[in-house]
Amino acid sequence: MAVFLSHSPDETRAWAERYAKTLSPGDVVLLDGEMGAGKTVLAQGIARGLGVQEDVLSPTYAYVNSYAPMFHFDCYRIESVRQAEELGFSDYFDAGKICLVEWSENIAPLLPEGCKKVIIRKRGEETREIVT
Ligand SMILES: Nc1ncnc2c1ncn2[C@@H]1O[C@H](COP(=O)(O)OP(=O)(O)OP(=O)(O)O)[C@@H](O)[C@H]1O
Ligand SMILES: [Mg+2]
Repeated sequence: MAVFLSHSPDETRAWAERYAKTLSPGDVVLLDGEMGAGKTVLAQGIARGLGVQEDVLSPTYAYVNSYAPMFHFDCYRIESVRQAEELGFSDYFDAGKICLVEWSENIAPLLPEGCKKVIIRKRGEETREIVT
């Protein structure tokens, strides 16, 4: 277990950019933390580390956004595992891209074996603890 203390969104993005270099195609990374903790900020940094040029925005309404090297899921509004199945989530996980998943607890039965996890916790207005 490694713990990093971030003091700003930019510091979180910079950490995530470095973390991205440890990832391999096909890895599924669960981004865990309460609402507003910084899961999407982490996804933005990981995307930058993977060379994504586009802005990474929360996929809350789309459930999943697609970029060349990665998919970014937000399962907050997923209502059932069956809905996630119907959206083809298992195919995304099998596609050989890096998958970043917010609110993965809502689709737990669909997650593949061996997922990686990054936990981000609020420790102050701009302070976050990042645990891997
Ligand atoms: N050190 C920090 N690291 C990350 N975000 C921070 C930090 N300090 C403040 N913030 C702010 O916290 C918020 C994090 O928002 P973000 O959308 O990433 O959260 P989230 O975990 O994805 O929430 P949700 O569950 O609603 O999707 C942003 O407004 C960001 O500017
Ligand atoms: Mg988010």
